[in-house]
Amino acid sequence: MEPILRDWQEHYSELFGRHTLRLNHRLHETGLFTDEALARLIERCPATNYNLHAMGSPDDPRMTWRRGELGDCDGAQVIEGIRAGRLWLNLRRLQDIDARYADLVARMFAEFEQRVPGLSTYKHNLGILISSPRAQVYYHADIPGQALWQIRGTKRVWLYPNSAPFLPETSIEDIVLGTTEEELPYQPWFDEHAEVFDLEPGQMLHWPLNGPHRVVNHDCLNVSVTTEHWATDIRNFYAVRYANALMRKHLGMKNPAITVQGPMLYAKAALALAHKSLMRKQKASGLPTRYDFKLDRANTGSILDIPPAIAAE
Ligand SMILES: [Fe+2]
Repeated sequence: MEPILRDWQEHYSELFGRHTLRLNHRLHETGLFTDEALARLIERCPATNYNLHAMGSPDDPRMTWRRGELGDCDGAQVIEGIRAGRLWLNLRRLQDIDARYADLVARMFAEFEQRVPGLSTYKHNLGILISSPRAQVYYHADIPGQALWQIRGTKRVWLYPNSAPFLPETSIEDIVLGTTEEELPYQPWFDEHAEVFDLEPGQMLHWPLNGPHRVVNHDCLNVSVTTEHWATDIRNFYAVRYANALMRKHLGMKNPAITVQGPMLYAKAALALAHKSLMRKQKASGLPTRYDFKLDRANTGSILDIPPAIAAE
């Protein structure tokens, strides 16, 4: 079997996770991302495993970002709707609903671990994004290790440094604690400090942990794969940020240290764990989201308002 990663060079192992890497891949040759395969996957995807969003025109400063459901469209109609509309579909945690994608994501990370000495990853997650021409995802940061693998279409990706002012400690702490979603304050001048890529089919990007990013599709349907992973250092940063957020909020500490080793790490990890399990008992999931539209089967690319309801997670 051909490796998924193409053209890997020895020195990439020193860059992985520390600096941005743009690599070549063969995901689009696996047969798991053809229109036919995606259509069948959409039809089998339970409501707990997708987010569908609709947005206004790219020129509209009040551009809204609504959440909806696929309604009674079949997979091919959903894809055609996304091609014609202003939509963004995220099929999430596909490793949980189809063994082929579970095998695939395991293979992808096995290849990285084989090439990067000392790398040991877990809690892999594979999603597929199908998004409309010119659709965009605003400036945000994600908690786990992230990579974006382009399958069809082209998107422009801006990647920003993972420290203040692009990523203030208080912002990443709030994201980790779950008090805000993943959005961050953005200033247009940030772009002067961004790495900018036009990501083509067969290319992937992996960037340093928590690196803020935003994405704008070129004028074409886009299909991309997202992967998430955890590793010891990622988990340690998570625990320290979580504990620091609590110390800042409840103890009034101004600038808690970002130390990810020694006794302080263990103390902070224990604090984070205790608080997390307490919160889990109080609340089953994170912030509830509402959906208020469905795809219009009769008008490709259009949406219909429905009575607002809480989305299944
Ligand atoms: Fe992201």
